[in-house]
Amino acid sequence: MSMTTAKPDQSRADNAHIEIKPAVLYVGTPVVLITSLNPDGTTNISPMSSAWALFDRIVLGLTATSKGRENALRERQLVLNFPSPAERPKVEAIAPTTGRYPVPRHKADIGYRFESDKFDASGFTPQEADLVRPLRIAECPIQFEAEVVASHDPGGEWPPERREAFQIIEVKVVRVHAHRGIVIPGTNHIDTTKWSPLLYVFRHYFGTGPDLGRTFKAEV
Ligand SMILES: Cc1cc2nc3c(=O)[nH]c(=O)nc-3n(C[C@H](O)[C@H](O)[C@H](O)COP(=O)(O)O)c2cc1C
Repeated sequence: MSMTTAKPDQSRADNAHIEIKPAVLYVGTPVVLITSLNPDGTTNISPMSSAWALFDRIVLGLTATSKGRENALRERQLVLNFPSPAERPKVEAIAPTTGRYPVPRHKADIGYRFESDKFDASGFTPQEADLVRPLRIAECPIQFEAEVVASHDPGGEWPPERREAFQIIEVKVVRVHAHRGIVIPGTNHIDTTKWSPLLYVFRHYFGTGPDLGRTFKAEV
């Protein structure tokens, strides 16, 4: 194995990049619609995007005052529903809402309203899950039924000027549903020519572009 002899290029580093202080660090992750069970047995929908997968686990970042976080920690069950770009209008229809009543002050100040039935408000269709109680969202081509296995608070010091804290919630996926139209027939593989996530990039929605090729580990 050879060692790199490359030296940092100071002149290029100084010119090509500038320091900025962006309001958010959302470089681009899929939108996930978290469905969770309300205390009255109805299902809430929380749009979110701070989610990533490791084996059968998904790690979620949910703000402290969200109804979805409260429901997740009480019921220990969720469904993670992944919309495609076509569902963007339905997602945005419930973006300025919360299932929490009364609406937390910092959300009311920027126009959030209480919404008790987000299926009705969005036009999404409810669908029973197999192993957990929150309903699935029929329009989402990929749906993960999941159980909460761990949660923790933000580490370090949380600056008091930040509007809201959050919690990291780790879930274990217990069942995966994929629309038959995006599955390679007779296999457990997603056909990546048929599936495309709705991405959230610095607070804008995007679909994905052309396939740039597979990684060395891809089976198909
Ligand atoms: C596209 C999108 C991505 C979002 N990402 C997150 C997120 O990762 N974590 C989070 O807590 N809230 C996120 N939000 C904000 C929540 O949707 C918002 O707090 C909402 O009121 C939660 O609903 P609930 O209080 O009924 O759970 C996102 C909103 C949108 C529209």
